[in-house]
Amino acid sequence: MSEEATTYNYTVVRQFALLSIAMGVIGMLVGVYAAAELAWPWLNFDIPYITFSRIRPLHTNAVIFGFGGSALFATSYYVVQRTCHTRLISDKLAAVTFWGWLAILLSAAITLPLGLTTTKEYAELEWPIDIAIAVVWIVYAIVFFGTITQRKVKHIYVANWFYGAFILTIAMLHIFNNLALPVGMWKSYSAYAGVQDAMVQWWYGHNAVGFFLTAGFLGMMYYFIPKQAGRPVYSYRLSIVHFWALIFTYIWAGPHHLHYTALPDWTQSLGMVMSLILLAPSWGGMINGIMTLSGAWDKLRTDPILRFLIVALSFYGMSTFEGPMMAIKTVNALSHYTDWTIGHVHSGALGWVAMISMGSLYYLIPRVFGRKLYSLGLVELHFWLATIGIVLYISAMWVSGIMQGLMWRAVNPDGTLTYSFVESVAAMHPFYVTRFVGGALFLTGMLIMTINILLTITAAEKTEEGINDSILEPAPAH
Ligand code: HEM
Ligand code: HEM
Repeated sequence: MSEEATTYNYTVVRQFALLSIAMGVIGMLVGVYAAAELAWPWLNFDIPYITFSRIRPLHTNAVIFGFGGSALFATSYYVVQRTCHTRLISDKLAAVTFWGWLAILLSAAITLPLGLTTTKEYAELEWPIDIAIAVVWIVYAIVFFGTITQRKVKHIYVANWFYGAFILTIAMLHIFNNLALPVGMWKSYSAYAGVQDAMVQWWYGHNAVGFFLTAGFLGMMYYFIPKQAGRPVYSYRLSIVHFWALIFTYIWAGPHHLHYTALPDWTQSLGMVMSLILLAPSWGGMINGIMTLSGAWDKLRTDPILRFLIVALSFYGMSTFEGPMMAIKTVNALSHYTDWTIGHVHSGALGWVAMISMGSLYYLIPRVFGRKLYSLGLVELHFWLATIGIVLYISAMWVSGIMQGLMWRAVNPDGTLTYSFVESVAAMHPFYVTRFVGGALFLTGMLIMTINILLTITAAEKTEEGINDSILEPAPAH
């Protein structure tokens, strides 16, 4: 390995990149199994550990924090080093974040199937694990911001702004939402009561979407799209407006998860209005990413990695159009509690989060391992399996969600309900089977990626690219 290889800490980037792929496979496998249980409920075999209610949080934690979170760690460590032209401030602290995060994921994988949960969505883990998360996260912040203070260039590239906002906000949300009174090793009660508890939970929940599932991944977008396209960001000025507008608006939108509840009506309306405003910065960012390709559109025909990144942005645009629509109270009266929400979630989760991570990992892994990517053909195959899988998943959920909503509200002239609940459940079956097929295709793509990456790091041709060009690299745009 060349001398410059010692310039950057690639060890932790490699570890998190591989962890992300492993957790993607596990989390999606659990998702596919959960989808199968919804279509064929006997699949839980009456075993408590694998009932839907226990494997659902296992799925969400594995994909969001395991797959998405590790991709964020890997890319943020890579991007911050390269754009600041300096090594991570401490290898030891970086290692603490990796091993700590791995231990947290393992404890989630044990406690959730055992039914140990706070019952707060996306914050199910009990207090000892929450404390560990807070510690690892603070160490992460020290490594990330510490590295920025050591930078050799004056400018802080915009991707780091997004990663930085993600790190700071998640620390705040995690700590406040999980304040609780422990009454045993694996049992605690929330510090908040009643509607305040719900409000804090969805302030957390929505901003977990805004900062965990969005801001960090926008950091990826601002680095990896210009890199893979070989073009500067379309408008650097727009990226700064995008940043401030997005983070200012997101934080207010949480109450759209609590429409028609005991939450004061004005709070719900505020959440709705802020969600509608959110469309503008979201689309500003999407346009900035997509327009980065102007003058290089032809690359989409030949480069499947770039296609992952750009299709991710298209799904980002789609889900950030759909979200504000669903936040309108009258629309939410139909969509809430239905599969429409699940469709929306996965157009964001599969289309945006997973696709942008996959594209970024395909770019990053060969470079940090000093190898050529084993097969571009397999990336192409992965791309199509993933895209077809998403389309099947989300269109099935849209149809079934709207059907559910309409069936539940249908009334006869005498005021009685037209359909019993179980009739709506029976009507869901074909769509649950379709979602299972879509999910299985998406998972197959993920398995192909795993094989391609394993062959890349073990058998592919060695290259100095990414290892050798290290310190001289200019930031992607100024
Ligand atoms: C193979 C791919 C996947 C399949 C088959 C799948 C399947 C499922 C299923 C069956 C549910 C439960 C739905 C319900 O309660 O009715 C679910 C929920 C969820 N999944 Fe996935 N999933 C996949 C990938 C992902 C990924 C990659 C992410 C995130 C990055 C994700 C995030 C979520 C979230 C946040 C929920 C909870 C939604 C809500 O409460 O509204 N999923 N998934
Ligand atoms: C402008 C942006 C967005 C807005 C205004 C928005 C709005 C909404 C609304 C109104 C709901 C339904 C709440 C309910 O009826 O319970 C929802 C659910 C959800 N959205 Fe979005 N959304 C946006 C973008 C995204 C993106 C990009 C993702 C994923 C990457 C995402 C992930 C989710 C998740 C996980 C839920 C389910 C929460 C739950 O468990 O109930 N959203 N969103």
